[in-house]
Amino acid sequence: MHNTRMTSRSNPDEMPAVQPAPVADALGRPLHDLRISLLDQCNFRCPYCMPEAEFHSEYEFLKRQQRLTYDEIVRVAAGAAILGVSKLRLTGGEPLLDKNICDLIERLATLPGIEDLALTTNGMLLAASAEKLGAAGLHRVTVSLDSIDKDIFRALSGGRGNLDQVLAGIKEAAEAGLGPVKINVVVQKGVNEHTVLDLLEFFRGSGHIVRLIEFMDVGNRNGWHVNQVVPSRKLLEEVQKRWPVRPVGKNYPGEVARRYEYLDGAGEIGFISSVTEPFCGDCSRARLSADGMLYTCLFANQGTDIRDPLRKGVDDEELQEILSSIWLQRADRYSELRSPDIAEHHVLKKVEMYRIGG
Ligand SMILES: C[S@@+](CC[C@H](N)C(=O)[O-])C[C@H]1O[C@@H](n2cnc3c(N)ncnc32)[C@H](O)[C@@H]1O
Ligand code: SF4
Repeated sequence: MHNTRMTSRSNPDEMPAVQPAPVADALGRPLHDLRISLLDQCNFRCPYCMPEAEFHSEYEFLKRQQRLTYDEIVRVAAGAAILGVSKLRLTGGEPLLDKNICDLIERLATLPGIEDLALTTNGMLLAASAEKLGAAGLHRVTVSLDSIDKDIFRALSGGRGNLDQVLAGIKEAAEAGLGPVKINVVVQKGVNEHTVLDLLEFFRGSGHIVRLIEFMDVGNRNGWHVNQVVPSRKLLEEVQKRWPVRPVGKNYPGEVARRYEYLDGAGEIGFISSVTEPFCGDCSRARLSADGMLYTCLFANQGTDIRDPLRKGVDDEELQEILSSIWLQRADRYSELRSPDIAEHHVLKKVEMYRIGG
């Protein structure tokens, strides 16, 4: 068991100087990243994530008192930083629906040990907030954008997105110093696959990094079928035919995207092949849902409730023990163990993507 260095219950705004006490899980993997879902609500209804038929006007989202407060989030993030987390990512649902998000960013950005603070967004509200987000201390944004074709984009947002508004958000984010902006594209066969090269062409030379993501069997609501997956290998072949690329090394251990650069100097693209080439081996991510469940795998069927002990008044040392014991016991490697066939018939209830933010 690690040694905890934070002793009493701290005021989250006045964190004492702490010594890192890194942990490794049962498979020897360190804890480096924490993804924090701020809320389960979203202004989009992407069919593969929050299909309108299920997330309709009667759907009961978390109530404010069920969601972690900023104080609670900061305490968990500070505890995670002591255990080795240096990267935080704010996500959702749609994190920019949280009107006070800059207050939280200011607090997270100054936590000891945090070197990288990023945010994943659908980009609809980004143009209006990019400058404030940067000023609050956010380092980078990732924008999800599945097609550069207006109509397909709109359909993939559940009829709610506006492509020009998202493109304006990407521009403002770059100007606010939140780059390099990453553009995440979930590729689905027969849906947006045929628009991928146009999207790449649009962003070539912009300095933004497009990442092509295999449609994953996360959650149980999106009717995932292996036939809908376009293997990265196939996309890479298509890219190569149009613009030759060469592989480049990882930026850091545990990076999920395989990186390539265009030989003509037009920038970088990435492939995230979670279905055809799982990368559990060096996965160092934990995910905190808006209601305070900590998940140690994207495909987890259960998490650990952190909100309950927080609200029962645990001190920092006890919180540290809880977080480290969760990580020490972790042995998840769902993607490596599942075959696409098993995934289709997966009977366990898995956590939904909109709860843990990708
Ligand atoms: C759940 S969203 C939350 C943040 C924000 N609302 C957004 O869309 O960027 C995070 C990411 O998960 C991705 N995602 C959702 N469902 C997915 C699936 N089944 N397979 C692959 N990626 C998925 C989205 O495309 C998005 O890039
Ligand atoms: S992928 Fe993001 S934008 Fe789309 S419904 Fe899910 S949370 Fe909302």
